[in-house]
Amino acid sequence: MPGPDDNKAKKEFFSDVPVKTDSSFFLKGLGSYDWGLQDRMSRIFNPKSGKSVMLAFDHGYAYGPTAGLERMDISIAPLVPYADCLMCARGALRSVIPSDSNKPVALRMTAGTTILDPKVFENECVGLSIDEAIRLNASAMAVQVCVGAKDGMERVTIDNLCQLANLGNKYGIPVLGVTAVGKELVRDERYFTLATRILAENGAHFVKTYFVEEGFENVVSACPVPIIIAGGKKMPELDALTMAYRAIDQGAAGVDMGRNVFQADDPIAMIKALCSVVHENVKPEDAFDMYKSTKK
Ligand code: 5RP
Repeated sequence: MPGPDDNKAKKEFFSDVPVKTDSSFFLKGLGSYDWGLQDRMSRIFNPKSGKSVMLAFDHGYAYGPTAGLERMDISIAPLVPYADCLMCARGALRSVIPSDSNKPVALRMTAGTTILDPKVFENECVGLSIDEAIRLNASAMAVQVCVGAKDGMERVTIDNLCQLANLGNKYGIPVLGVTAVGKELVRDERYFTLATRILAENGAHFVKTYFVEEGFENVVSACPVPIIIAGGKKMPELDALTMAYRAIDQGAAGVDMGRNVFQADDPIAMIKALCSVVHENVKPEDAFDMYKSTKK
């Protein structure tokens, strides 16, 4: 089937040219949204640095008790004061997070297949009502989107995003589109440029994706709204800090990390080091020195 790029040999992302905006709102692409939505985004992203360190611990909704999340009251609750935003499912929020924590929450809104199904993440529906999101005072609604999924599942997950974007725009609650990549797809610049742009065009107010070694600045440039990166599998602490530094340096607006924080030898020292990289542009080696000296 012919594609839209067939007659153009080379793409130009102008990655070194800042996006023009007609609004003073500090986050890319969100200048024309309502006060409530901008207010919620300003709770997630620090208006001074323009960045966010989100703590993801939603794994259990599909993976059960992931290593490090067996007892979230022990592992996650102590990290809450250091995160800019919490990303979790409603069960963890209600049962583990004190309601006076005063932290913005990116609430996982979709549910469906689990780790016991090879199509985990693909066959999901919108599992939470907007009433539930409002009752839990969600600052954002997170939706998993599988661009490239087979058997109609791509359409299902884009439909979930569209439903939530409609509700989000109506009630002023931003939608976090999460790129979920099937095992058969290549995680490269080409895929993430496509997927993040598709999520933004279909209404996501910010997009979570993965860092790629080559061309990440083009992924950021082609996405009209802020991009944050997931951490992925646990790696050595210096490597995780280096990845965060490179992502921010290439235009990401933050990180939404889980395992690389709560599976670190010292999770509190790790999230502090991560904050210094993301908000203060501290070099990864210096942040790692901080990590080692803070580590218990
Ligand atoms: C899965 C998610 C998870 O929140 C995220 O991937 C978990 O973070 P990490 O990969 O850093 O453990 O969005 O789709």
